[in-house]
Amino acid sequence: MGRTQEGPGGARRRAAPPPEHARLPAAATRLAALAGYRALFAKAYPGEPINVDTIAKAMAVFQRSVISNDSAFDRWLAGDTQALTPEQYRGFKVFSDPAKGNCAACHSGGNFTDNGFHNVGLKTADPGRFNIRKVAAMKGAFKTPTLRDIELTAPYFHNGAAETLRDVVEYYNRGGEDRSNVSPDIKPLNLSAQEKDELVAFLRSLTGKQVPVVRPVLPE
Ligand code: HEC
Repeated sequence: MGRTQEGPGGARRRAAPPPEHARLPAAATRLAALAGYRALFAKAYPGEPINVDTIAKAMAVFQRSVISNDSAFDRWLAGDTQALTPEQYRGFKVFSDPAKGNCAACHSGGNFTDNGFHNVGLKTADPGRFNIRKVAAMKGAFKTPTLRDIELTAPYFHNGAAETLRDVVEYYNRGGEDRSNVSPDIKPLNLSAQEKDELVAFLRSLTGKQVPVVRPVLPE
């Protein structure tokens, strides 16, 4: 499951690697075999073994250190009325307006996610959240991702079905592709070409300064 991709790219796409959580037990075994990692884990988590839990904790600490909060949009929120271009500002309106983009129905709050799971109408054989929660609405439902730094992380959707932000906007404008179990918040939008451009411009206002992440020298 989850190995064949059924986005519009079809067979062109590479099979996705197994999800990270499925690879963690093997990673724990490999790390525990290296004296350098044993020493570092003993220091960070005294008395605890190198296992899925301590690896997850270490990864969570790292992830919390990677923060994007100084985008043009953040500066605008903080009161700098010049931080957004007029086009980006109109795009924010399209994004938020339930009668236009309706994006904020799910991409809400400071991280642009309701932390919920929704089926956005992608053609995919992946059951998504239904693997965990056996209720019909969770079939093909995925967690709403953040939109911070979104212009830097193409391709888009869990299966890479959209190459560009414009593709994403066109996709939502069509109301998705497989409507068999789609969220009631996904419907054809009838956006004008200008509104689509504005929406993409707004999404680009969510890019923060990139914090350089230095590749560490790995212990052996
Ligand atoms: C019903 C909730 C919902 C609505 C409404 C919604 N989204 Fe999403 N969005 C999601 C979910 C869930 C995903 C992840 C879907 C997947 O990968 O299967 C997603 C994915 C995305 C992605 C790709 C993120 C990535 O990292 O790959 C972008 C960009 C995006 N949405 C922008 C928008 C825009 C713009 C709108 C409005 C036109 C919108 N969304 C409306 C729930 C929603």
